[in-house]
Amino acid sequence: MKKIYITRKIDDQVIDQLKERFDVQVWNKEDTAVPKDELLHQVKDSHALLTMLSDKIDQEIFDAAPHLEVVANLAVGYDNIDLDAAKKAGVIVTNTPDVLTDTTADLTFSLIMAVGRRITEAAEYVKQGKWTSWSPYLLAGTDIHHKTIGIIGMGSIGQAVAQRAKGFNMDVLYHTRSRKSEAEQRFNAKHVSLEELLKESDYVVMLAPFTEETKQMMGKKEFALMKKSAFFVNAGRGTTVDEQALIEALQTGEIAGAALDVFEKEPISADHPLLSMKNVVAIPHIGSASRETRLTMMKLASDNIAAVLQGKKALTEVK
Ligand code: GLV
Ligand code: GLV
Repeated sequence: MKKIYITRKIDDQVIDQLKERFDVQVWNKEDTAVPKDELLHQVKDSHALLTMLSDKIDQEIFDAAPHLEVVANLAVGYDNIDLDAAKKAGVIVTNTPDVLTDTTADLTFSLIMAVGRRITEAAEYVKQGKWTSWSPYLLAGTDIHHKTIGIIGMGSIGQAVAQRAKGFNMDVLYHTRSRKSEAEQRFNAKHVSLEELLKESDYVVMLAPFTEETKQMMGKKEFALMKKSAFFVNAGRGTTVDEQALIEALQTGEIAGAALDVFEKEPISADHPLLSMKNVVAIPHIGSASRETRLTMMKLASDNIAAVLQGKKALTEVK
């Protein structure tokens, strides 16, 4: 039987189904990620890995895995996997695109609303017993409707965010490598330079994947171009942002606030300067984390593995 190693506890039904045809081993300490040593040990006789975006799958792993045929990442992003090393080793890499698009767009939009209308700050205010009277400017925030949203990275998630923005009567700007004429028609989205997007937007939303080109693409100069009243929202990858520059932009009032699902280094520590700022909404990389979508992602990752191990074509191969 071919062996599949799964680096986190996933849905039992998905595991049971795989067990009908394969030897399935699962890292069983639910509260921790699999340590590198353990992973190196497990891949020695594994034919497939089902990995999380927090697992670094590098040359060392491929070198230790003579039988490996497929790595199925439980995420749309795959910057945690060394694709060149996978290619050289003849290992197929798969991700979970499309199935998480709407769920991640919902979360992205909730970040926009949370930071604009100060939802998390207001919720803490009430829970801490600070609400003693009503007043007109108590926790007054910024509108979302009829404002301008600027989306950096207009892939499927970016387009699903644009669709939601249209429902809020927002003007949609976007910046991406290739123009998306369908999005331009459907959401009245306008393709602009990064500079124009930063200057014009009330909500700058980062959804670009992490690549050499997008590495720290939001830096000091970019934050300085944003309006003082504008918010920065990141639901893509933390590594597309120079976090120190973001902290400074927030400290000096160069931008009005930030809502972040992702960080340069995850998890971030409790004493991270971003966490002590009132105008920062910080959540722990939960973009696609609805129960429904997580199950669909698990099924897709598992179907990818089953296909490859049975000599068929992967459903969603990363190329
Ligand atoms: C989440 O960040 C993903 O890439 O799916
Ligand atoms: C990002 O915008 C994506 O759809 O991957």
